[in-house]
Amino acid sequence: MKLVIGGATGFVGTELLRQALENPAVTSIVGLSRRETKLPEGSSNTSGKLKSVVCEDLTGYPADLKKELGDVDACIWTIAITPSKMKETSWDEVVRITRDYTLTALHTMTEVRPVGDQKAPLRFIYMSGHFAPRDRSHVVKQLTDFGLAEVGLLRGALEAQILDYADQSKNRVVACIAKSGMIHGPGMDVRTVPGLPNIELHDIAAALLDQAVNGFQKNTLSNDDMVNMGQRVLAK
Ligand SMILES: NC(=O)c1ccc[n+]([C@@H]2O[C@H](COP(=O)([O-])OP(=O)(O)OC[C@H]3O[C@@H](n4cnc5c(N)ncnc54)[C@H](OP(=O)(O)O)[C@@H]3O)[C@@H](O)[C@H]2O)c1
Repeated sequence: MKLVIGGATGFVGTELLRQALENPAVTSIVGLSRRETKLPEGSSNTSGKLKSVVCEDLTGYPADLKKELGDVDACIWTIAITPSKMKETSWDEVVRITRDYTLTALHTMTEVRPVGDQKAPLRFIYMSGHFAPRDRSHVVKQLTDFGLAEVGLLRGALEAQILDYADQSKNRVVACIAKSGMIHGPGMDVRTVPGLPNIELHDIAAALLDQAVNGFQKNTLSNDDMVNMGQRVLAK
């Protein structure tokens, strides 16, 4: 299968790439980012299955990139302005990178699929967060305390837009939302936020890759779902 990792240069994207390179079910990987996707430490691309695609503005895809995306089976989208980068980013830019980039990716990868294609629908996984309410009445104190209510709502609304687009797509795309808690991995400070669950980097990457390869169990995955899935996959 051909997999796109949107944000393959990031913390989660790099682990997804490491595991995808080792997974024989994944035969082709497109690392799509604003800068070159480097091989994770200890990984090799001897099979030549990784292609790095650099696109500085992901609100518009050049023709050669659209061509590259025509036969994609699954995409895991990790690009976003994360809470730690919010202070240095204008709200317009947060919206552009977090919402517009994601919707453009979803729409483009769906629309470039040949009409009448007998292939299974595109599987699109969107990495969101545990505290991303789809409704203002569900904004929790932790979000307001950290000044993250509006970005949480932006992401919750985006989750709903993605699921709605997939529902309306006549089975050209199926979508899955990954509502991750705090991800622990090498080089990350361990922080505790009341009510926010944790997940290990290798577990979440294994869970998302499993869903991309084998299909979605449900359209929204909680942090606990991904812990269980990831541990089960890695134990095999
Ligand atoms: N890490 C966590 O604990 C955690 C918890 C819950 C949810 N999540 C979500 O999981 C996803 C992945 O998180 P992560 O920790 O891997 O984030 P990350 O390391 O910051 O990486 C995210 C990706 O987004 C790209 N990106 C960031 N700003 C950009 C910009 N202005 N223009 C273009 N690309 C940009 C990064 O590119 P560069 O490499 O070039 O910067 C990278 O490829 C995000 O949606 C995040 O909100 C993360």
